[in-house]
Amino acid sequence: MKLLLENMQKSALMEIKEAKDSSSLESLRIKYLGKKGKITDILKQLNNLPLEERPELGKIVNLVRNSVQEELLKKENELKFKELEIKLNSEKIDITIPGRRNNTAKIHPLTMVTREMEDIFLGMGFEIVDGPEVESIWYVFDALNTPKDHPSRDLQDTFYIDNDTVLRTHTSSVQIRTMEKRKPPIKIIATGRVYRRDDVDATHSPMFHQLEGLVVEKDLSMSDLKWVLDTFIKKFFGEETKTRFRPHFFPFTEPSAEVDITCFICKGKGCRVCKNEGYIELLGAGMVHPNVLKNCNIDPNEYSGFAFGMGIDRITMIKFGIDDLRLLVDNDIRFLSQF
Ligand code: DAH
Repeated sequence: MKLLLENMQKSALMEIKEAKDSSSLESLRIKYLGKKGKITDILKQLNNLPLEERPELGKIVNLVRNSVQEELLKKENELKFKELEIKLNSEKIDITIPGRRNNTAKIHPLTMVTREMEDIFLGMGFEIVDGPEVESIWYVFDALNTPKDHPSRDLQDTFYIDNDTVLRTHTSSVQIRTMEKRKPPIKIIATGRVYRRDDVDATHSPMFHQLEGLVVEKDLSMSDLKWVLDTFIKKFFGEETKTRFRPHFFPFTEPSAEVDITCFICKGKGCRVCKNEGYIELLGAGMVHPNVLKNCNIDPNEYSGFAFGMGIDRITMIKFGIDDLRLLVDNDIRFLSQF
């Protein structure tokens, strides 16, 4: 019996040591210590032994049982630790893997520039208004004091829908629509598409974008116009930018001016971009012609106005150093994703 117990202990301890996982360890526990386990069995058999042999054998069985229990516990902890380690390793997160790219769309450079320009004017108290692209010649030419024989009315320059209706050639038409509807003081800008019969090349397109401004108030002068444009240009192109007003002619303003800014590349020294001029032409502006005010039932003796108009495509090209207008409409992702 003693020998049997010794051998059982040996093989039990050995089997426990070699157990590979917690489920095989559990079967070993059942095999030796379960209700019908080998050691439990021997404990039961003790009752059949002669009384005097029982204490000694009982002691040995208990020792064997304790050592097996101890070994089981030891192994159980060891296996738990190992299994946890394996689990942790398999669940490890590699934080050095690059994240998934978020392919959200981008804003088109023309829209970016339009919004930036609008923001600056909003900051100066201007309101944004809108007008139609298909427009009657009253709003595009007549009300803007454009003579019947003015070249801009020519079929070769303007898209006619019928004798009376055109695709607007400039956003100045929105000035008339606004003045017809409202009483001064008026302080608005309008942005949008305009159309001219131009062949496409690096600097021309039959469709482009303009921003128009109009202020109508009592006692306005060229100096108010200059302040507004200087402020806008410095905000948009940088504080160091200088402006230059050149006399010009527009039918709807008197006096009229074209406004240049110092070249943003050479800062006025002269370079390839400004064709050695030091200045780049930016926009047209002037004091609203009395006839235009009259056409909108505003008394030119009581009110005065100034107005300005600029090409957004051109300004976008200047701002980003884009040398071909067509790039803005080609829809080439490689180009667009740079902005
Ligand atoms: N409408 C002119 C153009 O398309 C730009 C312009 C010039 C607008 C002078 C104005 C202005 O409001 O006062 O070339």
